[in-house]
Amino acid sequence: MKHALRKVVIPAAGLGTRFLPATKAVPKEMLPIVDVPTIQLIVDEAVRAGAQQVVVVNGRGKTAIEDHFDRSYELEDTLQRKGKKDVFDQVRRISDMVRLVSVRQKEPMGLGHAVLAARPAVGEEWFGVLLGDDLIDSDEPAIGQLARVSMQTGKAAVALMPVPDDQTQMYGVAAGPALPDGNIQIEKIVEKPPRGSAPSNLAVIGRYLLPPDIFGILEQVKPGAGGEIQLTDALAVLAREGRLIGVRFNGERHDAGDRLGYLIANIAYALKRPDLREGLLAYMRKVPK
Ligand code: UTP
Repeated sequence: MKHALRKVVIPAAGLGTRFLPATKAVPKEMLPIVDVPTIQLIVDEAVRAGAQQVVVVNGRGKTAIEDHFDRSYELEDTLQRKGKKDVFDQVRRISDMVRLVSVRQKEPMGLGHAVLAARPAVGEEWFGVLLGDDLIDSDEPAIGQLARVSMQTGKAAVALMPVPDDQTQMYGVAAGPALPDGNIQIEKIVEKPPRGSAPSNLAVIGRYLLPPDIFGILEQVKPGAGGEIQLTDALAVLAREGRLIGVRFNGERHDAGDRLGYLIANIAYALKRPDLREGLLAYMRKVPK
């Protein structure tokens, strides 16, 4: 079965409690990595993989995301009048990136519930899901790597990465036999397994390539870990039917949903910027041990 990646869903309706007070009025997805909001890096990944439409799942008070990808006439006019062409081009590029649709998740009842809220905008086609918490820096966009595997196999795909055994309880964890290409035919997948009970050390990272029938499955899912409708529980249905591949993606992943991971992501991206690299290194060399 052939399908191309056309639409992606970015769930952005979580409460972002790990980043309070910054996230009281500003969505966590708008927190910058250097000077680019996390969600713009995520949209960029999706666009590089060929996505044409982005469906953002918003919670209350998240219009900042819509505004960010919209035209800003006042700003553009001022930049043009002041002759700031570079910045003007940068700002204009953001609103030209992609067609953005937003849907509302009325209550933050979990990632599975957020994905289900995107159903009217996705319709009956395969789609990608990208979480702003996980930044993956790679030549071939991570969601594109999943789409490629999914198109080759006709199966759904999730991104997998090994994590230390004492961290598995923080993730969805998947297990199953390795395929000749190194990917995993997932047979078991569980959300946040209690310490010592994880079926493997392969953690699910926030990239998914899903078939449209996932919506019907999600409708049947009962609240699971943390009282939330878990996407992992719907993925477990696909796994049982032999329809889920774990993709051992190439790329450097940063956990931008965690304070330390967020700081490291900022440093990693800043070090790749010629305008910042030397100044940052000079400062770090001076930091006392
Ligand atoms: P998280 O659990 O990491 O996000 O969900 P959170 O709830 O915002 O963060 P903390 O733990 O309170 O700091 C993973 C992703 O799923 C989205 C979040 O926005 C995040 O991108 N999400 C989560 C929703 O859209 N709706 C939900 O009900 C839950």
